[in-house]
Amino acid sequence: MMKKNKRWENAVAVAGVVLSLWGAQVGAVSVPMKYSAIVGDGIAGFCPEGFDPDLTPSIALIQEPKALSRLPDEWDLKPTFELNDGKASASLVVPENTSLYGGGEVTGPLLRNGQSITLWNTDSGAYSVENGSRLYQSHPWVLGVRPDGTAFGVIFDSSWKARLTTNSGRIDFETEGALFRVYIIDRESPQAVVRGLAEMTGRMQLPPRWALGYQQCRFSYAPDSKVREIADTFREKKIPCDVIWMDIDYMDGYRIFTFSPQGFPDPKKLNDYLHDLDYHSVWMIDPGVMVDPDYEIYKSGSKKDVWVKNKDGEDFVGFAWPGACTFPDFTSPEVRKWWAGLYKDFMAQGVDGVWNDVNEPAVASVKGGSMQGTMPDDTPHRGGGALPSGPHLLYHNTYGRYMVEATHDGILAANPKRRPFVLSRANFLGGQRFAAAWTGDNVSSWEHLKLSVPMSLTFGLSGQPFSGPDIGGFLGDATGELWGNWIGFGAFMPFARGHACAGTNQKEPWAFGQEVEDAARIAIERRYRLLPYLYTLFEESSRTGSLIMRPVFFSDPADADLRTEEEAFLLGDDLLVIPSWASNPSLPKGLWRNLSLVNGDDGKYQAQLKIRGGSIIPAGKIIQNTNEESLDPLTLLVCLDENGEAAGDLYWDSGDGFEYQSGDYGRWQFRAKQVGDKVMVKVAKSTGRQRLPVRATVEVITSDGVLRGSGSLTAGISVAD
Ligand code: NOJ
Repeated sequence: MMKKNKRWENAVAVAGVVLSLWGAQVGAVSVPMKYSAIVGDGIAGFCPEGFDPDLTPSIALIQEPKALSRLPDEWDLKPTFELNDGKASASLVVPENTSLYGGGEVTGPLLRNGQSITLWNTDSGAYSVENGSRLYQSHPWVLGVRPDGTAFGVIFDSSWKARLTTNSGRIDFETEGALFRVYIIDRESPQAVVRGLAEMTGRMQLPPRWALGYQQCRFSYAPDSKVREIADTFREKKIPCDVIWMDIDYMDGYRIFTFSPQGFPDPKKLNDYLHDLDYHSVWMIDPGVMVDPDYEIYKSGSKKDVWVKNKDGEDFVGFAWPGACTFPDFTSPEVRKWWAGLYKDFMAQGVDGVWNDVNEPAVASVKGGSMQGTMPDDTPHRGGGALPSGPHLLYHNTYGRYMVEATHDGILAANPKRRPFVLSRANFLGGQRFAAAWTGDNVSSWEHLKLSVPMSLTFGLSGQPFSGPDIGGFLGDATGELWGNWIGFGAFMPFARGHACAGTNQKEPWAFGQEVEDAARIAIERRYRLLPYLYTLFEESSRTGSLIMRPVFFSDPADADLRTEEEAFLLGDDLLVIPSWASNPSLPKGLWRNLSLVNGDDGKYQAQLKIRGGSIIPAGKIIQNTNEESLDPLTLLVCLDENGEAAGDLYWDSGDGFEYQSGDYGRWQFRAKQVGDKVMVKVAKSTGRQRLPVRATVEVITSDGVLRGSGSLTAGISVAD
């Protein structure tokens, strides 16, 4: 049943059209606090007088927080609320010298002091690398790190169009909608705050392991013979790859959930072909449904009355790839159910994962018009379940987020024994529960190559750990020099996919000649060798909300020199990645030793890798895809600290499905200790049903080179100097 909500019409007026919710207010009026309370471990909630959840529903949070105790007197971070001509805003005074981060998908620097962004999901191809472009996703969230390394985070719990300004000393969140609540997490470290964000907004689910492999995309590989040719070439050239992507041209006239009878007459056969070569396939689904009375999806949606209406109550029609389109109103649980149901037949074609694109939604109002547009602000959305009805100004930023929730539910229902994988261009804070992210239509340029590091780091700091750029750049032609340098570090990002726009040069690893091809192979082989480490990080992230790709300042949050570092980054806590082009990176203090994983990985395109003193990184062998056995033999890369000790973890399971939730996994803690001239490495603790492979190799990285030993880790492996 649709939830009745007359008041949202007033909320539209908040956008500055006619009247205000609060009478004829002109100018800024401060709003008193109705209540504040501790709602979690180091988490406080603040609610202004006059807040109404029917005007600003909470969308980011996984559940309504409960007041646990009163706010202690010493709690110093308290927002103030204001209405300005009826539009709600909140401000927070923060300690001087606080480093500010977050804001989700942003351009500009990692350190966000002195930046301002508009939260309004926008199709923004070739976005400016300077701060200022509106992008595809909205994350009303700021992380602050104080000089002493303690940290706090602020959730502005509103999806209304907004402006977020992070000035030193003060954060402002100015919306075009009604009053909202604010949650502040105050903890001992930025890591603990990011975990707090996940407690409030949810965690990425453990993806299938194949989604951690290298992935190849182009707009578009078509017809199907081209897809097979690309798949064959990776295997012939022995460049590891797990996923081939089908962009929009597989469809019949851009009608979603259809296949071109000419180019893709037998998608099942194509998927079988890919599966036989140990690939997985991801296929695109956009939100716009072609207005075509003979088209099943259009007929079914019209019959079920799922389309967004305009304010006169007629189907909203806008232009997208197929021409005139209607758009499902994903705020309604009934509509989400209908959408989810569409995936059953689609997935039955052997589709493994789904790519939801242009779901800001990007809509042109006229045929051939620019794709920068979207629905008018006052377009009504029906809501339902816990959601009130409301205008587009309220729900625009969540259109993609509700779409991917429905997609996720649909592909899970279609294949209940497999882990869903969804990639989405648009999303909202909390949407990491349903989909991974990529940074949209970047450019094949050095500026965009460099920007991709702070962009993915900021995604992580804003609750989305699973992200990456179009490696090599989407728009424009790439040179071999650029592509080689990009894959050299892009291979260590959580989501590693090469992609390219129609009309640009070929951008596969082999498209630039032998030197770049060899460099790409080495970079990707390094990623695959690190699969046990990477998978362990993904599992940890799915359980605790920790980041996969981490800013260098995480290694020592009190070290002021690291706060602006945005060339180098950490993978987990133990591996430092310094891209080939990094000019003068600020590196963490302490012991870090150079790490080689593959012969020739010191070439000019390769990122330099360093392992942290005191750590053990689990690595596998070079494999061509994640279906291959990776752990036999397992290699433990050991770097002792000053006390001659090291520790590390490994998590492993079948790589897909949910059996791991009932004990079918292995988790091992390894310890290494130097005794005399020997280093003893062994399993200190293990849980779960899976067993370690019998054979294991240990490589102790020292100042004089690498010491090797092998044997059984359960018995312990002793490596002699
Ligand atoms: C826009 C997406 O950002 C891009 O990745 C994709 O290739 C095109 N749409 C075509 O579907």
